[in-house]
Amino acid sequence: MHHTKDILESLSFIQSRTDIKPTVGIILGSGLGPFADTLENAVHIPYSEIPHFAKSEAVGHANELVIGTIAGKNVVAMKGRFHYYEGFTLDQVTFPVRLMKALGVEKLIITNACGAVNTDFNPGDLMIITDHINLTANNPLMGPNNPELGVRFLDVSEVYNKELRQTIKDVAAEQGISVREGVYAWWTGPTYETPAEIRMIRTLGADAVGMSTVPEALVAHHSQIKTVGISCLTNMACGILEQPLSHDEVIETAEKVKATFLKLVTGVIARF
Ligand code: HPA
Repeated sequence: MHHTKDILESLSFIQSRTDIKPTVGIILGSGLGPFADTLENAVHIPYSEIPHFAKSEAVGHANELVIGTIAGKNVVAMKGRFHYYEGFTLDQVTFPVRLMKALGVEKLIITNACGAVNTDFNPGDLMIITDHINLTANNPLMGPNNPELGVRFLDVSEVYNKELRQTIKDVAAEQGISVREGVYAWWTGPTYETPAEIRMIRTLGADAVGMSTVPEALVAHHSQIKTVGISCLTNMACGILEQPLSHDEVIETAEKVKATFLKLVTGVIARF
């Protein structure tokens, strides 16, 4: 459970560093961190300095909150995130979302690098998340509920806001960027999936699989933040191609998609 007092302590600390009041939040996945460097008048705050934040050491992730402006909007970006597979509790993984809410964030874009389970998709494709499947048997809202933050039994029929999804589709169409839509399955990691697990995940109805996003999306939804997810499909999931998966491949593909991703996200934020 997140405590209101902790959130307010983090909030005061951030407010001591910047007067910018962000209304849009973005969580940047593996290789997508450079978006944060495009923010103007930016303040960079290392996670290690923020009260009640855990410390992340994942390869390919910086670890700072960047607050600035872009496309006429005040934005708070997480450059690097906390993953369940690092051993963090889901309270730690999702605490930054509570802070975003306290800062005034109304709309959140969650991004990630993930594997394509749908064999019609290709590495380098961007996918708007329509829904998710939680394969981890854990949930960030488990434990006592803080009624100041949200309800005990949360409806999850539309975790990924339909109107904002349409905005992303509109902006992509205007920019001539093709985007996929699909269901994201959350896998704990840190191992990738086996070929048999990927067959199972496809049978269950997922189009992509990754190790993040779902906890943050659930807490954002619980916080009544309008949320969307954009996945960068960095590789075909295990067993689809006769080749092993590597983190290098994930980072390499994300790097290739970076320019398109930055353009799309900037265009989307302008409409938010
Ligand atoms: N599986 C899980 N997580 C991932 C993958 C994958 O294939 N690619 C990038 N993150």
